[in-house]
Order: sequence, then structure tokens, then C-alpha cells
Amino acid sequence: MITVAIDGPAGAGKSTAAKLLAERMNLVHLDTGAMYRAVGLKALRLGIDCFDRESIIEMMKTTVVDVVYSDGVQHVFIDGEDVTTLIRTQEVSKAASDVSTIPEVRIKLAAFQRKFAEKYDVVMDGREIGSYVLPNAEFKFFVTASVEERARRRLEELKSKGLAAENADAGRIIEEIRSRDKTDSEREFAPLKLVEDAMVLDTTYMSIDEVVDKMICRIKGELK
Ligand code: DC
Repeated sequence: MITVAIDGPAGAGKSTAAKLLAERMNLVHLDTGAMYRAVGLKALRLGIDCFDRESIIEMMKTTVVDVVYSDGVQHVFIDGEDVTTLIRTQEVSKAASDVSTIPEVRIKLAAFQRKFAEKYDVVMDGREIGSYVLPNAEFKFFVTASVEERARRRLEELKSKGLAAENADAGRIIEEIRSRDKTDSEREFAPLKLVEDAMVLDTTYMSIDEVVDKMICRIKGELK
């Protein structure tokens, strides 16, 4: 079984790199952020404060998160509903980051992710895949980029999906990304963390193809 862990802060290009790597190396890509987003969406819909641990624990008892692939595209389901296209808003980004501070949410989603890695050759991207979910992953990458570049990319993504106006400015997104970086890296349980055995890829001035080429070089080099 091949397991590849890609961690890093919001908007660094982890998911895009993971998706391309999966295509080129015939791996299954699991975007774990989508699972936290689905949980965040459910909390928002129910009007639950995402930091209210007791209420979120109660909610998680009856919550079923699932991932299904259709034509190679990952779809995330919550309680049987496909929410793939509803989870990319800024509001859900924040809710996902907030609920992810609650250990019980992480324990439940990590159990799903570990089982997934037992079944498939995977590349999983998230925040703590190499440090907590799959500490024995064969290949670990930490993908990062400057805050300004990450905000620029996020804005382009939102515009391409019609979720931000063409003339929207990056200022607010920079603030949101800074705040998400803080929540993700300062939470007590399984925070975003660079582990010693991860290869760091600063993608600020790299194209996505260069990033994936570097990953493949490392993987093939070590598989020989
Ligand atoms: O990768 P993303 O932006 O879709 O993730 C959304 C939020 O979910 C992120 O701010 C923190 C949380 N998350 C996490 O805590 N652990 C993961 N493995 C993936 C995401």
C-alpha cells in the first residue's frame, strides 16, 4: 500500500497537487478538508456555535460523513446528502476550521480516513495527516506559500466559481486566511504541524506542475 500525506495551511495548493499526483501515480485522492467542511455546514444549518463542544459532540453522534467517487471526482456526503458544491463558501471555510478544533470531530473523521488508507493506495491532504492521521505514511509533504499568494489563489478560485465578484479585493481574504492559520495551528488537539520527515515545498513561486514533479521525483526515487 502506498500512502502519501500532504499537509499545509489553507490555500497553499495541497488539494490541487494531491489531485494531480493521484492522476499521475494512480492513487485515490482523499481531500480531508471537504469532510470538515461538511461537518461545519451541518453545524451552520442547525445554528450551532462551532466552538460549542457539548452541542457539537451531540450533533456528531447522529452525523454520518461519507465520501464517494463518481467519474474520478470526490463527492462528500453528510447524512446522505451530497454537499460537494455547497462547502466552498468563506462561511463554511471558517465553520470547518472552528469545528476542527473539537477533538471528538477529529477522532471520528480520522477513524474514517485511517480505514480508507487501509483499503486504497492513497494521497490524503489536510493539516495533520503526517503527524496524526497517518504518522507512518511512506511519503510526507508539507506544502506552503506566502499568505498573500494563498489569498490571491483563493480569490481566483472563488471568482472562477462565481462565489466572489470580479473586482473583489484580497484584503478580506488575507485576514480570513491569517485567522484560519491561527485556529488551525494553535488548536490543542492535532494542530497543523510540520513534521521532521516531511519534505517542505514552498509553492509561492512554483507552478503546480513543478510541485507535482518534485513529489513524483521523491516518491519514485525512494520506491526504486
Ligand atoms: O483544506 P480546507 O481548507 O478545505 O480545510 C478546511 C478546514 O478544515 C481547515 O481550516 C481546517 C480543517 N481541517 C483540519 O483540521 N484537518 C484536516 N485534515 C483538513 C481540514
